[in-house]
Amino acid sequence: MIICKSAAEIEKLRRCGKLVRDLLEEAREQVRPGVTTLELEAFVERRLKQAGAKPAFKGYRGYPCCLCASVNEQIVHGIPSDRRLNEGDIVSLDLGVIIDGYYGDAALTVPVGAISEPLKRLLRVTEESLYLAIDQVRLGNRLGDVSSAVEEYVVRNGFSVVREFVGHGIGRQLHEEPQIPNFGSPGYGPVLKEGMVFAIEPMVNVGSPAMRVLDDRWTAVTVDGACSAHFEHMVAVTRNGPDVLTRL
Ligand code: MF3
Ligand code: CO
Repeated sequence: MIICKSAAEIEKLRRCGKLVRDLLEEAREQVRPGVTTLELEAFVERRLKQAGAKPAFKGYRGYPCCLCASVNEQIVHGIPSDRRLNEGDIVSLDLGVIIDGYYGDAALTVPVGAISEPLKRLLRVTEESLYLAIDQVRLGNRLGDVSSAVEEYVVRNGFSVVREFVGHGIGRQLHEEPQIPNFGSPGYGPVLKEGMVFAIEPMVNVGSPAMRVLDDRWTAVTVDGACSAHFEHMVAVTRNGPDVLTRL
């Protein structure tokens, strides 16, 4: 069952969305060559405490940290470590928060110093595919319209979408129905109704879409070793079109 939220609940989720977005922006400013992903984790953990919010990921199925920090060929769920970021790397930062029993979840991929033109294009295409999906979050559309918007744009630009991980409904739980794949067919799937709230999160690879999980049981990496990017927003279905709850 896809839960439709009241206007009051959407305002609670907007608060979560704003916090997660603000903290990701602050974390983005900490990214530079020489910084470790564990330093980013420590920064985010401190800022979460100061804000009086709880981390959504720490302890979720045993995940050890507040932040996921996935570097280069790491797709998602990179565990913060003493790995130092190098000039030319990209790092995907994914953060979840809980305020008052409601969840916020967002992600973005950040360049470390100057990056190559192909990587700039990967970041641009991945973020644009998310915005095209968001534009499909309209009353009467179907979930397949959202999913296919990502796939169509990514494939047209010569990249590939990861199929093993999906976006999700979000509310009083981090993961609610429905699952939101980054591929699909227009005109298929559940009809979008007022008050549905989605976390849409394209994961886009430069090369093959194939992925595997490292021995740490979390870090998902590309099989071919090529780079991957990840952007995520929370979006509510309203009478007036998509309402992005993680907008700056
Ligand atoms: N944004 C991801 C998701 O929605 C991050 C989950 S990390 C985990 O699934 F540790 F919580 F699993
Ligand atoms: Co998510």
